Amino acid sequence: MKSIAQLALGTAFTLAAAIAAIGHSGSALAQVATVKGAGDEMKVLYATPTEIAEGNRVADAACKSCHGLNGISTTKDVPHLAGQRAPYLYLELKAYKQGARGNNPMAAAVKYMSEESLMRAAAYYASLDPAQPPASAAKPAPRPDPVKVGEVAAADCAGCHGEKGVTENAGSPNLVGLDPKYLVAAMAAYKTGQRKNELMKSAVENLSEPVLNNIALYYALQKPARAKTKAEGDPAAGKAAAAECAGCHGEQGVSAKPAIPSLAGQDAEYFVAAMEAYKDGSRKDESMKGAVAKLGGPTIKNLAAYYATLTPKAPNVRKPLSLAEIAERCDRCHGVNGNSVDPRSPMLAAQRVDYLEKALHAYRNGARKSTAMAAMSEMLGEADVEAVAAHYARQKARAVIYVNLPGK
Ligand code: HEC
Ligand code: HEC
Ligand code: HEC
Ligand code: HEC
Repeated sequence: MKSIAQLALGTAFTLAAAIAAIGHSGSALAQVATVKGAGDEMKVLYATPTEIAEGNRVADAACKSCHGLNGISTTKDVPHLAGQRAPYLYLELKAYKQGARGNNPMAAAVKYMSEESLMRAAAYYASLDPAQPPASAAKPAPRPDPVKVGEVAAADCAGCHGEKGVTENAGSPNLVGLDPKYLVAAMAAYKTGQRKNELMKSAVENLSEPVLNNIALYYALQKPARAKTKAEGDPAAGKAAAAECAGCHGEQGVSAKPAIPSLAGQDAEYFVAAMEAYKDGSRKDESMKGAVAKLGGPTIKNLAAYYATLTPKAPNVRKPLSLAEIAERCDRCHGVNGNSVDPRSPMLAAQRVDYLEKALHAYRNGARKSTAMAAMSEMLGEADVEAVAAHYARQKARAVIYVNLPGK
């Protein structure tokens, strides 16, 4: 143990955590970490063999029926406890007892137990060899990059809408600078026939909803540029008339609302056609119906010319994180591949996939409170929750030996 002590030298009241590789003796150390600020929950690390044996007795009497033999659960939504970090287990048990982590079976299980008993049960479960991933947890096929999927599908649109959504084809709209929600709604409207255009109907009718989402994401992430087409009207006259439109479409034709399209840099011929369509009712929209009612042909041309001169802006959309990028963020607290060395952060490696999903949902909907996890789980979509849970469920689990160092 001398090498651990040397690594942590100079830090009084420090605990060093060492991960022992499973299947080797406790001295085969793979990693060393130090932990500062020992709180009350750290006392569980000092549990004696007698206390651990007492914890074993408690577990057999009160926990085994749900958490399985040796802390390895065979029940859906019930977590493995074996090899989990002792201070974490103790903190969670206290949270159930105090009602801070609401779950009826667990709250009932610990309600009448003393903190002492909980501490011993935590020390016992932490002392066990962790579960290992089931053989069925094989590596799944990598998730396709949604932006790539969108790019491939959008290749069929380039003939009319231009390379990367910047049109060179008068009459076909620019697709850059538009919010993905608007783009998806527009494509869906062609599909259902609510917006009538035969070319567009046949272009999108065989595309699934996820593919439409990916196409919209792809266009939203392209560099916005003005349509490479000509405009006939008078931009200066158009600018004056555009004062009526700014409240909805934005001061510079860049809309702040996803449902209202940006107009900056739009192809003028398409713009005019859209205005005529609102006017004759073939494209139905209550806000636009009112806005075009009193406009004559020349004014519409001038408006089109004015908006064509404005520079489009990228909508506020970020490229979704890949699974590897997500897991890298989680590993910062949960340890390499979910093998936490922080006594207060749970190990995720080889945990039951159904339980991991359930826990992430609970953080997302606020049923389980944790400042760190609320922020983290918020950034995950449903598909991410499934992928990240599956990722950790198939990682090899490693036990931790925490070594208490004497202060200097
Ligand atoms: C009736 C079934 C049942 C019994 C009995 C039971 N548990 Fe649980 N336990 C659960 C379920 C279900 C969960 C997950 C609850 C949740 O999602 O918050 C859980 C969660 C836990 C957790 C949180 C684990 C984590 O990773 O956050 C700990 C710790 C725990 N139990 C320890 C115990 C101990 C110790 C006992 C015995 C004193 C016990 N449980 C008895 C069903 C049970
Ligand atoms: C044959 C030419 C052509 C092809 C191919 C084509 N489009 Fe279009 N697209 C148009 C035209 C013309 C319009 C304007 C129709 C109208 O007036 O409503 C349009 C309109 C749109 C709109 C509405 C834009 C807005 O500002 O409301 C979207 C979104 C769109 N297309 C996406 C696509 C996608 C995605 C593809 C490929 C899957 C595609 N288009 C293929 C010609 C085409
Ligand atoms: C009350 C809000 C509102 C006002 C005012 C308004 N618009 Fe719109 N506009 C919308 C909405 C919402 C849509 C999208 C409707 C749809 O989905 O067809 C739209 C769509 C458009 C489109 C079609 C864009 C495309 O990509 O297909 C054009 C062009 C347009 N507006 C021009 C104007 C002009 C020019 C004015 C001022 C004379 C104006 N709008 C005033 C709300 C408004
Ligand atoms: C800033 C540190 C931090 C980050 C980053 C973090 N977590 Fe956590 N996580 C925690 C802490 C602390 C807990 C225990 C919170 C509690 O008491 O409920 C926790 C709990 C969990 C649990 C519950 C485990 C159990 O046994 O009940 C899951 C699942 C989880 N995190 C998954 C993730 C995933 C997935 C990510 C990445 C998207 C992530 N965490 C990122 C600190 C973090």
